[in-house]
Amino acid sequence: MPKDTVVKLAIATCTAPVNIAVVKYWGKRNEDLILPINSSLSVTLDQDQLKTTTTVASCRSFQEDRIWLNGKEEDINHPRLQSCLREIRRLARKRRSDGDSSVDVGCLSHKVHICSVNNFPTAAGLASSAAGFACLVYTLARVYGVEGELSGIARQGSGSACRSMYGGFVQWIMGEAEDGRDSVAQQVEPESHWPDLRVLVLVASAERKPVGSTSGMQTSVETSSLLKHRAESVVPGRMKQMIEAVRKRDFAAFADLTMRDSNQFHATCLDTYPPIFYLNTVSRQVIALVHQYNRHYGEARVAYTFDAGPNAVIYTLQQHVAEFLSVVRHFFPPDNNGKKFVTGLQVEHLGISEELKSAICLEPTPKGISYIISTKAGPGPRVLDDPSQHLLAADGLPK
Ligand code: DP6
Repeated sequence: MPKDTVVKLAIATCTAPVNIAVVKYWGKRNEDLILPINSSLSVTLDQDQLKTTTTVASCRSFQEDRIWLNGKEEDINHPRLQSCLREIRRLARKRRSDGDSSVDVGCLSHKVHICSVNNFPTAAGLASSAAGFACLVYTLARVYGVEGELSGIARQGSGSACRSMYGGFVQWIMGEAEDGRDSVAQQVEPESHWPDLRVLVLVASAERKPVGSTSGMQTSVETSSLLKHRAESVVPGRMKQMIEAVRKRDFAAFADLTMRDSNQFHATCLDTYPPIFYLNTVSRQVIALVHQYNRHYGEARVAYTFDAGPNAVIYTLQQHVAEFLSVVRHFFPPDNNGKKFVTGLQVEHLGISEELKSAICLEPTPKGISYIISTKAGPGPRVLDDPSQHLLAADGLPK
């Protein structure tokens, strides 16, 4: 092949985390720009357990933009994907015309190939769109040579994705501007701030969620007066209290606010007309178990929160993890079919006292929880420098 026909591939691979809100986002004031009706706050989870990895390649020889998700080619014309592509290219052009020499102008006129995988099963019903869009935007930015604030672009892929652009404790400030320029995520504290905080994802069911969050929250905005009350009169004060609880590492306050906020979010779902139910029997049993466990000790040692599905996410402190896991194992005896019940950060098995068992009035539900992911707070998106980790080969197709 003559030397001048060798085509240069600009390529980058990055990873991005999942986040779990403790003050929930539910409801948009602008559907296209994805502008929320209230601010929200989340904890970014450690990528060792849950992450998306994305490779973006750009090349003069590519005929069209293409995307592969978890091994399957998907439609690149999805409006939210198009928003992210358009906005990152627009930002790159603007930076370039403002004199930023790190922006790669060559790449801007080329098509991209995108390949993305999750290290957790999509069927587990965990929000994968947040990590997915955060990773997409972060990786595109790397290929184009754009740095700085990118959460406003990730937001246009999926609202909660803006919070996955940072590690630790992150707030999404709702903003006021009509064009959304002030609706961005901001780190409240880094992941190192609260090293004892632990997260347990109790995967209750592998069913797909009945109503997706996008359409669910749209119906809630149209029909629930409780949601309006929540956004206007509850969340502003709750955000302040939550930020203070995080700053002071006040677990009792953090737990109380987290559970109340999850409950109010699910109350707005019930107030939606027709109503939406995300919690199932196992979810309600976990709620009862947590309250009875806390009551037994006379203090909040664990807190639950639920998104648009039945999986419980438990926040607790390191010193309570082993006992609480033993309690869960007792009341939800696992199917010991070879599969590990607890994955991720490992903890010793503890027996539980008769006193504690009898303090919890619950009939054991075998196999109610299929498995548990044990994790903690973690950092934001990262660049993988090792070329062997690229998901696309030199020809621009998935490896
Ligand atoms: C219940 O971010 O998935 O998880 O903006 O329409 O993509 P879109 O919705 P999405 O909604 C997440 C809702 C939630 C609460 C939260 O993460 O704050």
